[in-house]
Amino acid sequence: MASKFVIGGVVVGVAAVGAVLWLSRPSDTAVPVTSAMHSGADTAAAKPEDEIIVPAFSQTAQSGEVAFNEYCAACHGKNAAGTDQGPPLIHALYRPGHHADSAIIAAARNGVRAHHWRFGNMPPVEGVSDAKLRWIVEYIREIQTANGIK
Ligand code: HEC
Repeated sequence: MASKFVIGGVVVGVAAVGAVLWLSRPSDTAVPVTSAMHSGADTAAAKPEDEIIVPAFSQTAQSGEVAFNEYCAACHGKNAAGTDQGPPLIHALYRPGHHADSAIIAAARNGVRAHHWRFGNMPPVEGVSDAKLRWIVEYIREIQTANGIK
């Protein structure tokens, strides 16, 4: 009986310590779902969608936003914030020095073999004109710049 009591006490003690630790977790340690999902990337987490700064776009970028929403946002998200189908483009990985404008156009024309993330391959984007792709590049660059990606 005595040993049973001790074991019980230990279990209760461990549970109590666990509860205290759990209750005292600082709430800001919570990891946003997006960065947890995107943890295959090689750089810092992306901005959560509601923290993306949307600048006053040039006319070209405004046209680009419309085209982006038509051809790209299904996977890359509104304001290029990413979705569960594709990565955010508001991300240091996609700064101009690392992915030039030509890489954006090539991605749309040829598709992309999955290499930075775990979303799978990006298929070639059908039906988007060269002009619209240039607008899309301008849009991506302007919203990236507004969010410190340059
Ligand atoms: C069907 C989903 C889908 C659509 C639509 C899509 N993408 Fe992607 N895109 C992806 C995925 C997934 C990746 C990540 C591949 C990887 O690196 O793992 C990607 C990667 C990219 C990259 C990085 C390329 C590189 O060289 O690493 C660029 C730039 C890009 N997309 C631009 C675009 C643009 C512009 C459009 C619209 C014209 C678009 N994407 C439409 C899914 C999509």
